[in-house]
Amino acid sequence: MLDITKIEKAYELMLEASQLLQNALEQPFFEGYIENIGNIIQNYQVRTLDGVPDKQTKAQLKKLYQELQKLKLTFADWRKISQLVLLKGTVLESIQANHQLTPDSLGFLFSYLIEQLTGDQKDLVLLDNAVGMGNLMLTLLLNLSLSGKRVKGYGIDNDDTLLNIVAVNAELTQVDLQLFLQDGLQNADIESVDIVVSDLPVGYYPNDAYAQNFSVFAKEDHTYAHHLLAEKAMMYLKPGGFGLFLLPTNLLQTEQAALFEKWLRSEVYLQGVIGLPENLFKKKQIAKSIFILQKPGEQVKQQEVFATSLSSLTNVEEIKRFSLQFKTWMR
Ligand SMILES: C[S@@+](CC[C@H](N)C(=O)[O-])C[C@H]1O[C@@H](n2cnc3c(N)ncnc32)[C@H](O)[C@@H]1O
Repeated sequence: MLDITKIEKAYELMLEASQLLQNALEQPFFEGYIENIGNIIQNYQVRTLDGVPDKQTKAQLKKLYQELQKLKLTFADWRKISQLVLLKGTVLESIQANHQLTPDSLGFLFSYLIEQLTGDQKDLVLLDNAVGMGNLMLTLLLNLSLSGKRVKGYGIDNDDTLLNIVAVNAELTQVDLQLFLQDGLQNADIESVDIVVSDLPVGYYPNDAYAQNFSVFAKEDHTYAHHLLAEKAMMYLKPGGFGLFLLPTNLLQTEQAALFEKWLRSEVYLQGVIGLPENLFKKKQIAKSIFILQKPGEQVKQQEVFATSLSSLTNVEEIKRFSLQFKTWMR
C-alpha cells in the first residue's frame, strides 16, 4: 500500500529540487527534472558542470536529498512520485495533449487485462512504440513483476526529451527497459514480443513516403498517425500476441475508418473494445477506449468481440462487474 503522507512529502521535495535545477540550468522544467533524477540515481550526489548549480543551490539540494533519503521510498513509490511531478510539469509547461503521460488508473487497468490475457505465462516481453514519458510502461513493468511475472520492456519514441525522462525513471525504478529514439514507423531491432501497448498520438502522420508501405495508408490525405502506429506495433508481436491500444472511441466512424477496418479484417483480430469513463477526458469528442487486438496464430481465432463500457475506474462495484464480465468472456 502507498503511504500518502510519505508520497506527498516526497512530491514536494522532488518538485522543489527539479525547479531549483531548472532555474540553475536556465532550461525548461523537464531538463531540471532529468538532472534531478540523474543526481538521485548517482547516490544523491549534486553534480556540477562549470560551476552550475552554484554553492547555495547545491547546499539547498543536499538538504532536500537528505530529507528524501529518510523517506526510504520503494520503486513503486518512486514511480508514483515521478508521475505526480511530471503531471505538474505538464501543467507548468502547457504540454500538448499528444505528449501527456498516461495516468495510473489506465495503467492499472492495462495491467489487469494483461494479467488475464497471459494467464500463468511467467515471462513477458512488452513493447510501447510511442512510450512518451513512460508512465504507462513503468506502471506495467512494476505491477506485472509484483504479480509474479518476469517482465522486460522495449520503448520507442521520436521525442528526445520525453525519452530522456523515461530513461532516468527506468533507472530510478530499476526496471528492465530498452529504449529507442526514432520514429515509431521505422524498424527497430527488437525481438518478437508477447504484448504491445500504446497510448497512441492522435492526428495526421506527415511523412507519406513512410506511410505508403502500410495497409492503412490513405491516398487522398496524410494518413492518421494512430492507424499507422497501431499497424506497425502489431508487426512486432509473436503469433497469437495481443495489442492493447488507447485509441479514440470514434475510431471506426472517421473518414479513414474504412482503411483501418480493412486492415483489421485482413491482418489481425479485433477481440475487444472497452469504453472508458468520459470524465477521464477533457472533452467528450476526445474520449478514448481500449482496443484489444490479436495477431493471428495457431489456435487463435476471431472471438465474439468483448464490448463494454466502464462508467468509473474507482467505483468498487463497477470494477467488480467489469472483472466478472471479462473473466466470463475469457473462459
Ligand atoms: C500520449 S503520449 C504517450 C504517453 C505515454 N504512454 C506515457 O505514459 O508517458 C504519445 C507519444 O507519442 C509520441 N509520438 C508521436 N509521434 C510519434 C512517432 N511518429 N513515432 C514515435 N512516437 C511518436 C509522442 O512523442 C508522445 O510521447
